[in-house]
Amino acid sequence: MVQLHEQILRDAHQSMLATRMRTEDMLPITDKLDQVGFFSLEVWGGATFDVSIRYLNQDPWDRLNQLKKALPNTPLQMLERAMNIVAYWNFPDDVVKKFIYFAKKNGCDYFRIFDALNDLRNMETPMKATKENGGHVQACLSYTISPIHTVDYFVRKFEKLEKMGADTLCIKDMAGMISPKRAYDIINGCKDAGIKLPIDLHSHCTSGMTGMSYQRAAEAGIDILDTAMSPISGGTAAPPTESVVAALKGTEWDTGYDLELLIEIRKYFLEIWEKYRHLHRFNALKVDPSVTLHQVPGGMLSNLIFQLEEQDAHDKYRDILDETARVREELGYPPLVTPSSQVVGVQAVMNVLHGRYKVVTKETKDYCRGMYGKPPAEIKPEIMKKVLGLKWKDEVIDCRPSDLIKPMWDARKKEIMEIDGGSLVKKEEDIMTYILFPQVGLKFLKGEAKAEFTSNILPLKVDHQLMRGMVKQSFPEYKQLWIETVPPDQRAGPAQIPTEFEVEVDGEPFEVKVTPSGGFLVAGAGGAPTAGKPKDVEGGVKSNMQGTILGVKVKKADKVKKGDVLATIEAMKMEQEIKSESEGEVKEIYVKEGDSVSSGDLLMQIL
Ligand code: CO
Repeated sequence: MVQLHEQILRDAHQSMLATRMRTEDMLPITDKLDQVGFFSLEVWGGATFDVSIRYLNQDPWDRLNQLKKALPNTPLQMLERAMNIVAYWNFPDDVVKKFIYFAKKNGCDYFRIFDALNDLRNMETPMKATKENGGHVQACLSYTISPIHTVDYFVRKFEKLEKMGADTLCIKDMAGMISPKRAYDIINGCKDAGIKLPIDLHSHCTSGMTGMSYQRAAEAGIDILDTAMSPISGGTAAPPTESVVAALKGTEWDTGYDLELLIEIRKYFLEIWEKYRHLHRFNALKVDPSVTLHQVPGGMLSNLIFQLEEQDAHDKYRDILDETARVREELGYPPLVTPSSQVVGVQAVMNVLHGRYKVVTKETKDYCRGMYGKPPAEIKPEIMKKVLGLKWKDEVIDCRPSDLIKPMWDARKKEIMEIDGGSLVKKEEDIMTYILFPQVGLKFLKGEAKAEFTSNILPLKVDHQLMRGMVKQSFPEYKQLWIETVPPDQRAGPAQIPTEFEVEVDGEPFEVKVTPSGGFLVAGAGGAPTAGKPKDVEGGVKSNMQGTILGVKVKKADKVKKGDVLATIEAMKMEQEIKSESEGEVKEIYVKEGDSVSSGDLLMQIL
């Protein structure tokens, strides 16, 4: 018998509806979902926490709580990014432990824990905490292809995870590139090695091979397969639940699920799919076998293309793909999943635009220092030299990254209790929300977050021709087509047509605004471009990338030297420094924190 792990309430809408499904659209179907008998239902974690407070104005803790009450018979699962929890950077042990405690208390039963680099040291604390709180640990390995990632590599690591106390194991194929043979070999290898724990295969349909891989996985003795109800399945999401149930019916792997009940649930999600039509992205529905060649996951790929477009360099597409593969090899073959996908992707873009390792992001430096964990293979010394300098050996840490972070809970708790007399904290979990996302979380707790939409105003009116153009913005050829076919005065559209979209990197949203002139710009924290500044001045310092100003490090009349940091900018989710290329005095500053800038925009004047 094979069991299914249902993804409809988490990974499916993260892959296909920008993680935007609202709690009120989940609750009406819980009764039926609870009757199926799924191995578990993934409902929480991943990008859902961030998106709930950032775009939905919904409390993620409430969602978990309500779902638990509505699904008493089905184990609920969350995706937990080891020491990153549900964010994108490391937290200290005390925060990770508290988080697991709160998640369990609010209704999470199974914790799917993974580390981007498969550094098992990063998985220890959340695994232990889960066990201590009576939860089920599903320990994952991020799947990727490289000379390091052999069948033996996965088997040995799974053996270790079994010893570390996992309850079940999971192959997390986030890019959907596991082939039938690889799926068979790894699962068979685990069973041959005497691994007793049930094994789960998580994959996406991106490459088009996944159905075949699931069949071979079944033949090798897989215990659990990840699927999503058909209306939000296929493409960049998981294979359809009903189809897998039907395919295995009458075989030794029969799930035993009631197909008629599933078809009823399907009807409900067909309506949901239609209701959220303003978020449909046509390319997310397509298979993309090229992922098997360059191994760049779909979400990351469309983002890279989009970034190139922004930097006015879409002719460099092929170069970027090659460079991504090269950087990944040089950095020790990290699986391309959050956050390593951003490190590799952005560095590849920088290398192509500015010369190899001429501009090195803070994240690449941190990665090379071991601040994300130990890379699967050794980073080449010549790269270490380029990134960290001649004394690179002194910079590299030996310990687990979180060992360098001081406990945080008490200090942050004190901080938020001092704001508005502590009135923002209605429950202890609110402190966690604040710790995980200090800015967005604070705004949410203050009641200043706005929902993009609520369920009762859906579906939004959508102009399909316009949508097509906007949704396809990541592909240069489609953008061109749109510009040619839609008259300029129609591009902005009436107010009910959404003008804000997002592209995704591994399911994490980037906001994209469509401006009335038909141009595209990315808004980080939502700032509009600064108007009214000159195009160019003598001694002008310009941004060499498109992004959001994080901080201005100088004041008017400051004296600066060559190499001084003038400002920090967040581009492609990475923090980068803009340094002075000359000596002089800061005469004028044209930007402020939170401003969105494009490549070539004037930032300040130094004479
Ligand atoms: Co996934």
